[in-house]
Amino acid sequence: MKGYKVAIVGATGMVGQEFAKVLEQRNFPIESIKLLASDRSAGKKLFFSHKEIVVEETTPESFKGVDIALFSAGGEASRYFSPIAAQSGAVVIDNSSAFRMDPKVPLVVPEINPEDIKKHKGIIANPNCLTIQTVVALYPLHKVNPIKRIVVTTFQSVSGTGTAAIDELTLQSKQMLNGKAVVPHVYPHQIAFNVLPEIDVFLDNDYTKEEWKMVEETRKIMHANDIAISATCVRVPVFIGHSEAVSVEFSKAMSPDEARRIMAQAPGVKLLDDPTISLYPQPWSAAGTDEVFVGRIRRDSSHDNGLVMWVVADNIRKGAALNAVQIAETVVNEGWLHTGGRK
Ligand SMILES: NC(=O)c1ccc[n+]([C@@H]2O[C@H](COP(=O)([O-])OP(=O)(O)OC[C@H]3O[C@@H](n4cnc5c(N)ncnc54)[C@H](OP(=O)(O)O)[C@@H]3O)[C@@H](O)[C@H]2O)c1
Repeated sequence: MKGYKVAIVGATGMVGQEFAKVLEQRNFPIESIKLLASDRSAGKKLFFSHKEIVVEETTPESFKGVDIALFSAGGEASRYFSPIAAQSGAVVIDNSSAFRMDPKVPLVVPEINPEDIKKHKGIIANPNCLTIQTVVALYPLHKVNPIKRIVVTTFQSVSGTGTAAIDELTLQSKQMLNGKAVVPHVYPHQIAFNVLPEIDVFLDNDYTKEEWKMVEETRKIMHANDIAISATCVRVPVFIGHSEAVSVEFSKAMSPDEARRIMAQAPGVKLLDDPTISLYPQPWSAAGTDEVFVGRIRRDSSHDNGLVMWVVADNIRKGAALNAVQIAETVVNEGWLHTGGRK
């Protein structure tokens, strides 16, 4: 099988390291790999496939000869380097929010809209972690019984903010348990033993940007602009795994059993739904796994056509690195490296 020249931008970060792990675990056909980060990490050594690789500073020249560039270095680095990488001939799969709502850039969850990849012009966007797990769970139901409205409240882990937030939760937890004062750096308030209803910046409409990403990205991926969506996104003191309580209103009534039957067949979904033995998804057990877990499926007591459910996934794997690598796999398996009329 042909191998590809792959670059990871943000290779020293939380998502970047998971990219490397997922590429190895899924035997992605690699001829060569470049590990790129900022000048802070240049010269650092990381392992890939049992080989030591020296991390390089990302520069405009970094992308010469690269086939696939996986980006997870934040919006600013993506906005600057992604067009350069695409211009050099690479297909960029970008984890930041920089290009997600650009009409020329496909926003893809391979279980849902793989065909959109074909139209890429060098950049493909990976959706927000929360959006990914929501649409993986809901799209199979939407195909059978179109969704009219979604109301979601989330419980998001600190790994969604990156390595610095993991360190902050660890440190603050120790400080609290030892009766010491806590000074927040990453979040506006203490995160240990606390919950914060603020993820990303506040917008003029009083939602946060994270909440609004969920609205716009869900509609774009599902090709369903008329779904009404309202989200409340909350940061909780959990290291890995995002959870969400989702209320869905369908076009007509759907029983919990029918939803369970559909979801049992759905790609990427795993049902954990038996209240008699307290079986339901939890971030603790979802961490390190690939599926989107669904449980607590029940009728919405406030609406005849409604269901309520609990959805959990590893935000670093399916919410970021795994979804991006699945996009890369689709690109190479379908021969879509140079589609979209860019060459
Ligand atoms: N964590 C998640 O759940 C998640 C999910 C989906 C998407 N994302 C997105 O993925 C991106 C990274 O997240 P993360 O959690 O991995 O953050 P992180 O742990 O803080 O890592 C950030 C990475 O970006 C690199 N970097 C920063 N500025 C750079 C620059 N100017 N040029 C090149 N590399 C640069 C850093 O390199 P140094 O080591 O040199 O500083 C590091 O490798 C963000 O855009 C985030 O929104 C994260």
